[in-house]
Amino acid sequence: MLSVKSMTAFAVCALYIRATTAAVPDPPAPEPIEVTELPLPPVATDSCTSELNPRGTGCIGQGMYGDGFQSGSFLPDGNHIVAYVTFAGAPEAPDPVSIYNGSQIILIKTDGTLFANGDSWKCVTCGVPAENGQATTFDYPHAFDDGKRLLVGTYIVDCGDFDLTSVECTPEATHIYPIRWNVTPDGSGAGGSIRELRLHPDNVHLGFNSFDIENGAISQYAYFSRLQFNPAPTTGEPLAPRYDLVNVTRLFSQNDTRPFIVNGDRLVFNEEAITVGELRGFSGRGGEVTYIGYSTESCNIDVYAADLTTGAVRRLTAHPEYVDPVDISPDDQWTVVMDTRGTGRQMFMAGMRGIPPVIDLVAATVASSTRNNYQRRFFEPWLIDRYGDRGTYFGQKINDAGSGVAGSGDINDPEWNGRADPRWSPDGTKIAYWQDLTASPSCGGANPLPCHNSKYPGGRYVRFMLATLTNRVPKVLPKVDPVSDVVPWGTPYVPGSTAGVGRTLPPPGTYTLEGKASGYASVVIVDNTGSSSIKSVAVQYTDYSDDGLHVLNGYENYTRSNPSTTLEVADWFSDITQTGETNATKKTTPDGFHASVDVFQNVFEATGTLTTVIDGEIWLQPANRT
Ligand SMILES: *[C@@H]1O[C@H](CO)[C@@H](O)[C@H](O)[C@H]1NC(C)=O
Ligand SMILES: *[C@@H]1O[C@H](CO)[C@@H](O)[C@H](O)[C@H]1NC(C)=O
Ligand SMILES: *[C@@H]1O[C@H](CO)[C@@H](O)[C@H](O)[C@H]1NC(C)=O
Ligand SMILES: *[C@@H]1O[C@H](CO)[C@@H](O)[C@H](O)[C@H]1NC(C)=O
Ligand SMILES: *[C@@H]1O[C@H](CO)[C@@H](O)[C@H](O)[C@H]1NC(C)=O
Repeated sequence: MLSVKSMTAFAVCALYIRATTAAVPDPPAPEPIEVTELPLPPVATDSCTSELNPRGTGCIGQGMYGDGFQSGSFLPDGNHIVAYVTFAGAPEAPDPVSIYNGSQIILIKTDGTLFANGDSWKCVTCGVPAENGQATTFDYPHAFDDGKRLLVGTYIVDCGDFDLTSVECTPEATHIYPIRWNVTPDGSGAGGSIRELRLHPDNVHLGFNSFDIENGAISQYAYFSRLQFNPAPTTGEPLAPRYDLVNVTRLFSQNDTRPFIVNGDRLVFNEEAITVGELRGFSGRGGEVTYIGYSTESCNIDVYAADLTTGAVRRLTAHPEYVDPVDISPDDQWTVVMDTRGTGRQMFMAGMRGIPPVIDLVAATVASSTRNNYQRRFFEPWLIDRYGDRGTYFGQKINDAGSGVAGSGDINDPEWNGRADPRWSPDGTKIAYWQDLTASPSCGGANPLPCHNSKYPGGRYVRFMLATLTNRVPKVLPKVDPVSDVVPWGTPYVPGSTAGVGRTLPPPGTYTLEGKASGYASVVIVDNTGSSSIKSVAVQYTDYSDDGLHVLNGYENYTRSNPSTTLEVADWFSDITQTGETNATKKTTPDGFHASVDVFQNVFEATGTLTTVIDGEIWLQPANRT
């Protein structure tokens, strides 16, 4: 199957373009979007006085860097979202202990109404007795469609027979069960490390990511599995009621997931490869898994969707900027993303379109890490139709209203940075998202960028927003049927096995990559001494064109080193010229562009410059540490 694919890749691709061109409608016109802010508990910087919260239901911290906060999914009624918040501030005497303390999960009203006690939020996990279970992770909170359970971090919060929003759902009625991934053949031990869990819309499966060390660098794989309640486990920890992950599939296979196919001295880019880098969720009807994939165009990180059964891949975004958090609408017709598009942040490296992703064999980590500066994200929420970026259509900015002035606190204040994940309401008329305000050291002090004070009471650094697509008619969609446990293109996970042979890259050598329309690229891949990862890639373009409209000539090379597992150093030389429909250059200073990135800190530090010029428009790299 593989060789057939590669031999006919060209013909298949041409046919595919013809077939989809016929089906792709014109881009939608911009639509009215109304953005409001969702209520949050008051902020306490010292004690949570009765003046701050007369109902005694707690105060939250300021949430600097967004730490301890995250907005999550809607409840099935569409009138609440679930959210992770961090309570702070000692209560007043004579009540020296409060259940509104530390990391918790709350429900927030989205329709302006109040809970019976007069609050617009309700804490679900506050005061849950220790014997009912305690959570230690709270990220990506997501409601089940029964309205009674939540996926929270690596736990299931369960209110038994009661709706989470009801007064009967008390702390005593609430149980918190850990989720365990068995990774030992005999079922012993604490289970494997799971992160970024996402509930499948069938409510019986979920996806997650897990780190691995591969070729001396940090790598991760994504997994799909069924959730199974285990009321009385006999092996493994904890020996208490828990949810087990069964029928686990690694969303990776040697056969279907290589971005480049080697054919003698030919290199063929395989656009149909399912290159799941990081799982981000599922489509609205559950047929697809969404993920950050291997780039289709050089240094242009995008999100993709792969059909869980057939493995058919859709590129959801194409804009040169960086995208990561994504949510597909319940009816599968729309995508909302958090993207750096519009900020110009990544254009210096990705602005020239149509460069095949060859140096990305080594450059992907740096290309994806420059999007942040310390804790600062440069994301804003964008709405894109099912057919994705095309022509001059790059979606619609959701939070476009306001003055756009930094520090204004307006809806489009660029100092308020989008965070993961935006979420669709079940009826497809609303999107919930959240942001945090840039804070030191991403600004202020030695940083050339000034900090802007929060305009919110208590100096709050986080805000949860609700975008309403006011022209849309609410949809009632049927329940999503359970999908198969089997992902035919994945690899069934066997407890105790390691990631195995891992991602295979083209071996060292000199290759030719033919342009689909004209010309060719000569590619030299150099091995990393003492390890199996590629160290350096050099490409020479000669009249190279994939679309017949943009032609590349010139040279680029990229050398990667990893002084430690999380530190990556890039030595990059580039001098590429594009002619045709666009006149563009991508050029480093003569002594190259040299950047180092710690993948967990994301501080941009470079010597030398890399600059892209597109039809006279100049895109510079960010200044160091900004
Ligand atoms: C919050 O919880 C911590 C640890 O559980 C406890 O030490 C502290 O007293 C609590 N604070 C309040 C205000 O209840
Ligand atoms: C799924 O897991 C269950 C329980 O471990 C097992 O009985 C069943 O055979 C598995 N199904 C598949 C398709 O592997
Ligand atoms: C992968 O390809 C090899 C060789 O072509 C074949 O034997 C094997 O069955 C394939 N595996 C899967 C999971 O498709
Ligand atoms: C990359 O290109 C530069 C400039 O032409 C050259 O000095 C350097 O040796 C090249 N490095 C590699 C690894 O090809
Ligand atoms: C690109 O440059 C050529 C030669 O200078 C010029 O004829 C052409 O109009 C330019 N194209 C665009 C899109 O600016």
